[in-house]
Parts: sequence; C-alpha cells; structure tokens
Amino acid sequence: MPVTIYEVARAAGVSTATVSRTLNASGLVAAGTRRRVQAAIAALGYQPNRVARSLVLKTTHTIAVLLPDITNPFFPLLVKGVQLAADEQGYGVLLCHTGGDPSKEEFFLEVLRGQQVDGVLLVGLVSRPESLKRLSRHGLPVVALDRPVDLPGSAAVRVDHLGGGHLATAHLLELGHRRIAHIAGPPGLTVSQERMAGYRQALTNYGLVFDPDLVVDGDFSEEGGYQGVSTLLARGEQFTALFAANDLTAIGAMTAFRERGLRVPEDVSVVGFDDIHLAAYVSPKLTTIRQPAYQMGRCAATQLIDACRANIELGDGTTIFQGELLVRESTGLPPRVGSR
Ligand code: RIB
Repeated sequence: MPVTIYEVARAAGVSTATVSRTLNASGLVAAGTRRRVQAAIAALGYQPNRVARSLVLKTTHTIAVLLPDITNPFFPLLVKGVQLAADEQGYGVLLCHTGGDPSKEEFFLEVLRGQQVDGVLLVGLVSRPESLKRLSRHGLPVVALDRPVDLPGSAAVRVDHLGGGHLATAHLLELGHRRIAHIAGPPGLTVSQERMAGYRQALTNYGLVFDPDLVVDGDFSEEGGYQGVSTLLARGEQFTALFAANDLTAIGAMTAFRERGLRVPEDVSVVGFDDIHLAAYVSPKLTTIRQPAYQMGRCAATQLIDACRANIELGDGTTIFQGELLVRESTGLPPRVGSR
C-alpha cells in the first residue's frame, strides 16, 4: 500500500495541512517543521498523488508539446530547451508526436482539453482552426513554437524564417552565383512560404528575375532533397548553387549530386537551414542557417509556465529570433565556365 499523507503527518508530529503546505511551498512553515516533514517523507518514501494534488492546486505542473516529426533532428534541440526550462520550474513535459496527421492532432487536443495539462506548446498544426479555438475557449494558454498557428491571442516564438531564407541566398549571390535553385519545404506550410519569400527577396535585391523552373517542392526530408535534385536536373536547368529549405533536404540533395558526378562545392554549392548536429559531420560539412532551437524552446516554455504560475493572460506577443549563417565547406565560388 502506498504511504499516505496521514502517515507522514504522524511521523513528523504535524497536521496533514502542514504536510500539504510543505509539499506545495504554500503558506508559512517553520524551518524546523519543514525539515521534520521532509525527513518523514524521505524515511517513509512518500510519493504525492499527482492527480489529487492537481485537484487541490488546480494545476498539474505539466505542459504539453505537440510536434509534427520527432524523427527530424531539429525537434529534439527544441524540446531540450523546453525540458530544461520546465525542469527548473518543477514542471513536467508531455510530448505528443502528431506526425502532421490532423486526426492525431485532434486526439491530442481532445486529451489536452481534458485539462490534463496547464498549457500547450504547438509546433504548427494542420488541423482545422476550429479545433484550436476550442482549446483556448477552455482557457488553456498556448504558445506557437517554431511554426505559426491560426489562433488569435496566442503568443509565438520562432526564428525569422524569411530573413533566414534571404541570408542563405545572399551568401550564394555574394559568392558570385546567379543561377540558384531552391528545394522548398512542404507546400502549404508558412515556414516554407516564408523561406521561399526570403530566397526571392534576395534575388530581387540583386536585380535577378525569379525563375520558377529553378524551384521544386520538398518535404523537409533527405528523400525530398534527393528527388528535388533529380527533378531539377531532369528539367535540364543549369544552376551552380542550391538553397535547401532545411538541412535534411540539403543532405539528400548532396547525395543526389554526388551520385550524378557533381562535386560539392566545386560544381554546385549547397546551403541548408537549421544547423542540426549532423550538419557539421557530413562531407562536405554543410553551410547552413543556424536556428537557436534550444533558446527558442526555453523562451517559449518559460513564457508559458510564467503565465500558468501567475494565472495571467499570455497575450499575443511574438518573439522572433534571428538565424545565423554558418559558412562551412559546401559553398564556394561558381565553377569556371566549361570546367565540368
Ligand atoms: O527541419 C524541420 C523544419 O521544420 C525546421 O526548419 C523547423 O523550422 C521546422 O518548422
């Protein structure tokens, strides 16, 4: 039988209310009394009943994170920041992997609406906005992390996706490339559209005309990058550089170039986006736009938990972090004409 709060109170020679105040750090408890209660808890191995505690405190001290793809190395970086911020504040983290499936999103949102958590971090959603709105109608605070969500009044934390796309493309333009291809992110995602807009903005700033034949859709995966290169080369398009919408796409693209006898960067330069751990270990090492994923995760979790603790409205503020260009080995000067 689990140890009860009554046994702890008896062992410490105090009331159960004093044990509760000690556990919840609420109300005054003399230092000596607190030490006796904590000693009794340790000696008896008492484990507070979290469900009962949540009913009393009207808080579960738990937040949820809904993620579209735990197989992408970018997301563990984000979650690490969330987890460490939650640990520091004594909060647990419930990880929900949706796989970008609307029915799974609905399922998790239903569970979360059951108030099993105090707040939610959403990394983009593909389900209907109405299901999201029901979440906020339940008064559950929401922070949109990394990808915007269509939920008026929710706070947001993300990188400047457009600015990052611009930075990647401008790097290639400054090296002298003028025919720059782009393998975009999944169509329909705001982050894909914003990175593409940054790519186009950089071309325009250099007086170049956007050529849609140099752009293909990807899906943020290595296979999407590999197939994207095959499609671009099958079109017979001449280009000397590629901006890939994320690192996994860039890694798949570099494999496709290598298998077709194209050297990176001698024949074609490649830039990615994210700076996942692997980017510095592929060959050639990948030039990319670093997202401060860990810091963004911490920032979003801290905002959410602070609002939960103080029981205040989160507001609809957006915190934008800037991407950073990390130049490694996969970008270089354009090949001399006729050098292939
Ligand atoms: O690599 C996965 C991509 O999806 C990242 O660029 C991140 O921004 C996420 O939205």
